[in-house]
Amino acid sequence: MSNPPLRRLKPRVFSGVQPTNALHIGNYLGAIRRWVLEQDLKENFYCVVDMHAITVPQDPTTLHRKTRELAALYIACGLDPQKCVIFVQSHVRAHAECCWILNCITPLGWLERMTQYKSKAAAQESVLTGLLDYPVLMASDILLYDADEVPVGEDQKQHVELTRDIAQRFNMLFGDTFVVPAPIIPQSGARIRGFDDPSKKMSKSDAANRGHAVLLTDSPDEIRRTIKRAVTDTGREIVFSEAPEKLGVNNLLEIYELLTQQSRPEIEAHFTGKGYGALKGEVAEVVVEGLRPIRERFNALMTEPGELDRILDDGAARAAAVAEPKVQEIKRRVGFVVR
Ligand code: AMP
Ligand code: TRP
Repeated sequence: MSNPPLRRLKPRVFSGVQPTNALHIGNYLGAIRRWVLEQDLKENFYCVVDMHAITVPQDPTTLHRKTRELAALYIACGLDPQKCVIFVQSHVRAHAECCWILNCITPLGWLERMTQYKSKAAAQESVLTGLLDYPVLMASDILLYDADEVPVGEDQKQHVELTRDIAQRFNMLFGDTFVVPAPIIPQSGARIRGFDDPSKKMSKSDAANRGHAVLLTDSPDEIRRTIKRAVTDTGREIVFSEAPEKLGVNNLLEIYELLTQQSRPEIEAHFTGKGYGALKGEVAEVVVEGLRPIRERFNALMTEPGELDRILDDGAARAAAVAEPKVQEIKRRVGFVVR
C-alpha cells in the first residue's frame, strides 16, 4: 500500500503570499526576481493565500481586490503562467480538507509555541481560532503538492519546520505519504533596507508608513518622492560600505547595483564627485525604469480582467489535478471510505 512519491527531474517549489501584503521592492529584489530566474529549473507552484488572509479581521471588498492584484503582480514580475501554476488557494478545496485532517494529528502545544502566533495574538483583544490554526493550513498548502522546496522569508522558517514535523508524524502514523520539504531562506546580502530608517530591513509590516518602502505598484512620482526623502548621513562619500552611518547610502547603491548589473567599482567611479541629491535622483530613475515593465503589465492585466481570469482558472485546474488525488490518498490513509 505504501507508494512513496516518484522522484522528479526538477525540484518542486511551492510558495504563497497573503493578498493583504503590499509587495515592495525588497520582496522583488530579494525573492520574486530569483523565482523568475529559476522558473525553468523547477516545477513551480505560486499561490495567493486568501484563506490565510481571513485569520485576522478583514474587509471583504479589500480582500477581493487585493487577491486579484497579487495574482496580477506575480505575472507582471515575470512568473510565466506556462511555466508556473499560479492560483488562488480558496479555488482548490483540497486545502481546507487536508487542513482538517492534519488538525487531527497536530498537538495544540505545537501551535501555541509558534512565535508569529504569539506576537499576533498579543496584539489583539480577541484571538480567532483560525489564527492559531494558520500554520496547519500552511502545512496543507505545502504537503498537498509534495513540494521539495519552500522559499520564504526568515519569519516563516518556523512554520516550514512545523510542516516538516507534521509530515513526519503523518508518515509515521499512516505510512509514507508526504515529502518532507526544505525551507529555502535567501542568504542575507540582498537585504533591502527601509528608506525612512536604514537600520531596519524594508518590511511588509512597515510598508504603509510614509517613506518606508517603494511598492511595486507605486507611480513614478511616488517612487521619486520616496527615494528623494531617503535617510542618508551627514557625510558626502558615495561608496559601498557596511559602516553603520553609511547604511542609507549603501542601500541606495545596492539597489542601483541590482537593477543596473554594473560592478561596484564602476558604480563608485560613476558617482565620484557627485552629491547625495544626484545619487538619489539617479537611483530613483533606475527604480522607475526597472519597475516600468512590471507596472505596465500589471495595469494591462487589471484593465483587461479576462486574461487574468483565464490564467487563474487554468492555475486552479492544474493545482487541483495535483491536490485532488493527493487528498484522496490522505483520506484513504486515515481510514475514510473514499468514493
Ligand atoms: P515577506 O514580505 O516578509 O513575506 O517576504 C517575502 C519574501 O521577500 C521573502 O523571501 C523575503 O526574504 C523577501 N524579502 C522581504 N523583505 C525583504 C527585504 N527588505 N530585502 C530583501 N528581501 C526581502
Ligand atoms: N504564511 C506565509 C506568509 O505570511 C504565506 C504562506 C501561506 C506560505 N502558505 C504558504 C508560504 C505555503 C510558503 C508556503 O508569508
